[in-house]
Amino acid sequence: MFEEGQLYSPVSAGGDGEVTVHLADDHPGANDPAYRRRRNEIAAAALAWQPGTPAPDIDYEDAEQEVWRRVMRELAPKHARYAVAEYREALEAVRLPADRIPGLEEVSARIAPLSGWRYIPAAGLVALREFYGALANRVFHSTQYVRHPAVPLYTPEPDVIHEVVGHGHLLATPTFGELHRLAGVATGRLRDDENVRFLSRVFWFSLEFGVVVEDGALRAYGAGILSSYGEIEEFRAMEHRPLDIVEMGSVDYDITHYQPVLYRAESVAEVAEVVGGFFETCTDESIADLRRTAAFA
Ligand SMILES: [Fe+2]
Repeated sequence: MFEEGQLYSPVSAGGDGEVTVHLADDHPGANDPAYRRRRNEIAAAALAWQPGTPAPDIDYEDAEQEVWRRVMRELAPKHARYAVAEYREALEAVRLPADRIPGLEEVSARIAPLSGWRYIPAAGLVALREFYGALANRVFHSTQYVRHPAVPLYTPEPDVIHEVVGHGHLLATPTFGELHRLAGVATGRLRDDENVRFLSRVFWFSLEFGVVVEDGALRAYGAGILSSYGEIEEFRAMEHRPLDIVEMGSVDYDITHYQPVLYRAESVAEVAEVVGGFFETCTDESIADLRRTAAFA
C-alpha cells in the first residue's frame, strides 16, 4: 500500500505492547469502539509478524465479511463493463472468493503461480522506499483491515479490499504487474527522496488512477478506481488529460475525494511505453530535469 500522500491512520505501539491505530476525528469509524478495537488488533498482528513466516491469519468478523461480500457483489458487473481486458482476464485466473475475505497467504498462493507476486502484511504506513523497493522483488506490502461498513463504496485509506482486489488482479497481469515491478526497480536507482516522490505521483496517476481507451471504450486500469464501486461509476465524467510524465509527477492530489483529473492513454501499449518507459529509464538526473521543466511550466 501507501503511496505518498495516501491517507493512512498512524499506528503506534506503546511500551506495554499496546498497539493503537489513530483514526482521524472525521474517520467513519472514529466513534465506533468495536471498529477501533478491530483496527488495533489487526495492526498488532502485522507488527508482530516476522519476515520469512506466514502472514497472520485474521479471523474476520461477520461485519467485515459482509463489507467484502457487498463490495465484491457491487464491483463484479462494473469490472465487466469498465475494467481493462487484462484485469478482467486476471479476475478469471485468480478467482478470489466473493463470499469471504481471503488471507494474504491465500492471495499469494493464487497470484504467485501466475506472475510470481506475493503479499506480506503491513500495519499501516510503509516508508515510500520500503514499499516501492519491495515491488522490485515482486513483494507487495498489504494492509489487512477492512473499511468501515458505513462507507463501503470508497476508502481513502488503503484497506485489504483495495490492496487485494485492486492491486492483486493487476499484479497477476503481464503488463500492469510488470509496471509495478519496474516502479520498484526504478526506486532502487534513485538517491534523492524528492525524485522518489515524483515517481510515486506518476505511479498514483497511472497504476492507482489510470484510464485507457481499449476497443473504442474508456476503461480503467488504476487499482484505486477498480477497488471503489463509487469511483468506478465516476471516472468517465472526470476531466481527462493525455499522459504527461512531467505533469503527472508534479501535480498535487487530494485523496479524500474522487480524483477530478485523470490521465488517459489511448491504448494499453501507450501506458506500457510512456509510464513503463519512464520507470525503466529514469535516473536522479533525468527526474531532476523533469522537475525543472515543471517548475518553469
Ligand atoms: Fe494502492
